[in-house]
Amino acid sequence: MSSMPLASSFLQSEDFIYVLYIIAFALVIQGLRGLVGPKTAVNGNRIAGLGMAIAVVATLLMPSEGNWALIAIGVLVGVIVGVPAARQVKMTAMPQMVALYNGAGGAAAAAISTLEFFVLASGNGENAVVSVSLVLSAIIGCLSFAGSIIAFLKLQELMTGRPITYPGQQIVNGLILLTILGLAGWFVVTLGTMPVLAFVGLLICALLLGVLFVLPIGGADMPVVISLLNSFTGLAVAVTGFEINSTLLIICGALVGASGTLLTVMMGKAMNRPLTNVLFGAFGSGGGSEPAAGSGGPQQIRSAGADDVAIMLAYASKVIFVPGYGMAVAQAQHSVKALADQLEKRGVQVLYAIHPVAGRMPGHMNVLLAESNVPYEQLLDMEDANPEFSTTDVALVIGANDVTNPAARSVKSSPIYGMPILDVDKAANVIVLKRSMRSGFAGIDNPLYEMPNTSMLFGDAKASVDALTSAVKAL
Ligand code: TAP
Repeated sequence: MSSMPLASSFLQSEDFIYVLYIIAFALVIQGLRGLVGPKTAVNGNRIAGLGMAIAVVATLLMPSEGNWALIAIGVLVGVIVGVPAARQVKMTAMPQMVALYNGAGGAAAAAISTLEFFVLASGNGENAVVSVSLVLSAIIGCLSFAGSIIAFLKLQELMTGRPITYPGQQIVNGLILLTILGLAGWFVVTLGTMPVLAFVGLLICALLLGVLFVLPIGGADMPVVISLLNSFTGLAVAVTGFEINSTLLIICGALVGASGTLLTVMMGKAMNRPLTNVLFGAFGSGGGSEPAAGSGGPQQIRSAGADDVAIMLAYASKVIFVPGYGMAVAQAQHSVKALADQLEKRGVQVLYAIHPVAGRMPGHMNVLLAESNVPYEQLLDMEDANPEFSTTDVALVIGANDVTNPAARSVKSSPIYGMPILDVDKAANVIVLKRSMRSGFAGIDNPLYEMPNTSMLFGDAKASVDALTSAVKAL
């Protein structure tokens, strides 16, 4: 007997494939562990990627996998579309990219379920577990797909980011949900042998609910919604695992579902907003472009020039940079690093205070600052940064607003009351870099700007930071 068939039957043996899967799970879990901190995140991502690659190879080795030409086309399309998209995407466009990928995951789960429906309908498998998981993954997958596409369109500004509401919205959504539950019940009772038309109706209702669920949510709340939809996709993938008896899908789906849920809860906590407040109407209708109502008159606001601020920075002993959404918009992270380098050359201690929800996505500031090679040791989480402000000469707020708003500590009627903030007002001097007196995401005034130790340096964050660097250099 030749050694080739022996080798191929070993490679395709169930035991070997299971060993590969176990290696893949271990690598994915180890990779996720790496994502807990910026230092280990890049390697964590690589390890998880390797795990996924091994899982794909193991799946392809399964004897039942047949159509190699179709699989090759799928892989090719994925590579051609995915690689340049991932390389070219701007950091500020990352949330919509995640929304698209998430939608694809949901669509894949729904597509597998649709295929399995036809297998069931042909009378091959009268199994309650399979039919329950099939209907769940079809519904959740469709909902997640449609919701993610709306989230993408809002973030990409291909449709309005404002909440789209109409009278009786909740009643319409409730009726669609009831229809879905009714059809799902029918599906389970008949063990998946319901008429094709009814199943298609079920899919359409789930898609419609996904659209209607996300429409009334403001564009700026999309990161929270995407994280929630991500947990839905994880759930859909996990139940698909039960449907087609794949441990890999169950484990990976459960990991995605659990991490998406945790992230959603953590974002809500960091904003001090219950999830219901995000999902069923609140602030955040598109980024706060209107001037804050009743913003304290210009007489209370001190405006400073770059030269004055440069002197203050250059002769300080400790400066804390506080980046926010405006730094991301202005793409000022490289300029910020250049300013820090100049200050450090002069012996100034420079630190960065990172609020957990600064910007518009989790880790937004960390990623931008890592891109400009800011040493990780200089990045302080909110808990570590806050005790530092009282011994800081200058807190330089770079396009951050809500995350520095002291009203969150003291004004009970404020929509952000109770949200933990960066205590920049405790620094000896606060310099705020922004373009105008417009509000931030929450659409509210910031009393920080009227405090006696605060001065505003108006202008685009990148232009202002560059001007500061030149002025410090010239001293
Ligand atoms: P914001 O409160 O949104 O304030 C950003 C400020 O940046 C604005 O006031 C804006 O003022 C300024 N800005 C915009 N473009 C600028 C530019 N080119 N140059 C200089 N300044 C510019 O940002 P934040 O302090 O980072 O807070 C984040 C907010 O987003 C929080 O309310 C948070 O709850 C919410 N949120 C966060 C997340 C995550 S996960 N990060 C998710 C959803 C919601 P001007 O227009 O006057 O320049």
